Amino acid sequence: MSDMNSERNSFVPLEEHTKLRRLLSDLKDKLAQQSAAFREVVDTIQQLGDQIDVHFHAEEASDCFPELVNTAPRVSNRVATLLAEHDELRAEMHQIVQGTRSRSGTAEDWEQLASQVEVFTGKLMAHERAENELVQEVFTDDIGSKD
Ligand SMILES: [Fe+2]
Ligand SMILES: [Fe+2]
Repeated sequence: MSDMNSERNSFVPLEEHTKLRRLLSDLKDKLAQQSAAFREVVDTIQQLGDQIDVHFHAEEASDCFPELVNTAPRVSNRVATLLAEHDELRAEMHQIVQGTRSRSGTAEDWEQLASQVEVFTGKLMAHERAENELVQEVFTDDIGSKD
């Protein structure tokens, strides 16, 4: 990102989104190959959940969202939706981990976990993509296109 916004918008989520995408893709491989013990994979998911939580907190505490709304009030509904999605995604991740803790790692357990993670990943990636697009649209296109 250019440093045009760096004064107030010190937190730009784009890099973290790339990092999260990589972690999720590693997890998907582990689930597909069943290359680690079931409990290890559950621990990995727990850690990933913690990182996602930290990421959401950083976004919520940053100037990024208020700055988007200040710059382009028309996007306020989209920002509110993104913030509400944080709570939904947190709850879903928590549910996956809690529901998996008591499982022993049967073929069904693996299958169920893989499909839950796939659904969750789809939602999380859609969320992060929407944020990327919003940041791009407001900070690059809106500001960048001003004469
Ligand atoms: Fe977010
Ligand atoms: Fe994000």
